[in-house]
Amino acid sequence: MKNEQQFVKSKQRVADHGEVFTQPREVNAMLDLVKEETERIESRFLEPACGTGNFLVEILRRKLAVVERKYKNNQFDAERYSFLAVSSMYGIDILMDNVIECRNRLLEQYTDWYTALYKKTYKEEQLIAIEFLLHLNILWGDALTLETPEATPKPIIFSEWSLVSSTQVQRRDFTLDMLLRSQPMEGDNLFSDLGEEAFIPTPIRTYPLCHYLEVANESVH
Ligand SMILES: C[S@@+](CC[C@H](N)C(=O)[O-])C[C@H]1O[C@@H](n2cnc3c(N)ncnc32)[C@H](O)[C@@H]1O
Repeated sequence: MKNEQQFVKSKQRVADHGEVFTQPREVNAMLDLVKEETERIESRFLEPACGTGNFLVEILRRKLAVVERKYKNNQFDAERYSFLAVSSMYGIDILMDNVIECRNRLLEQYTDWYTALYKKTYKEEQLIAIEFLLHLNILWGDALTLETPEATPKPIIFSEWSLVSSTQVQRRDFTLDMLLRSQPMEGDNLFSDLGEEAFIPTPIRTYPLCHYLEVANESVH
């Protein structure tokens, strides 16, 4: 099959993990079903079996295109809105090499975009902050158990990033289990048939506010 290598790494991986990557045409067609969301800078996306990031890369491309169109003449705004764009994208994969490849692809894509836009004025701290976001948002985990796939599993923990002023970011950590229990399912709340109120997730940790360019320094585990 033409381009087979690109979409299948090995027969063993297909058999063990169902690893067949989605082609760009299908990625685009599926994302077009939620086009408005893919073009909203702060819309949150979680890809629970992200592989090397075929969907996330296209979502980031769309979001950065919006940032560029709206803010390219103001570097400060382009920087903080592109931080917001990356901070709202999440991925999980059970294979660590895919997780690393996914993070690297997204970082390279961001770096190419940012340094091309601000050739002489780009900031190294911006790239460090983006790398840190990707390190925490694209995780090695089992999307079925919601835990890490290791001998002693740990809960998958995602960070929520909120820009609370033009430069200050609030980081709050939640277990994925807690986040999913709070999500409505197809217009219905998971707990609605039990007659309970909507479930509001509780963070397992709330960090002090910090400048978004300093998240990597301030958010030490
Ligand atoms: C069909 S591929 C799709 C990859 C990517 N979403 C794409 O469309 O190109 C499925 C991916 O799911 C991962 N995977 C399989 N079981 C998983 C699980 N329980 N939790 C998380 N990821 C899993 C595999 O490693 C593989 O990368």
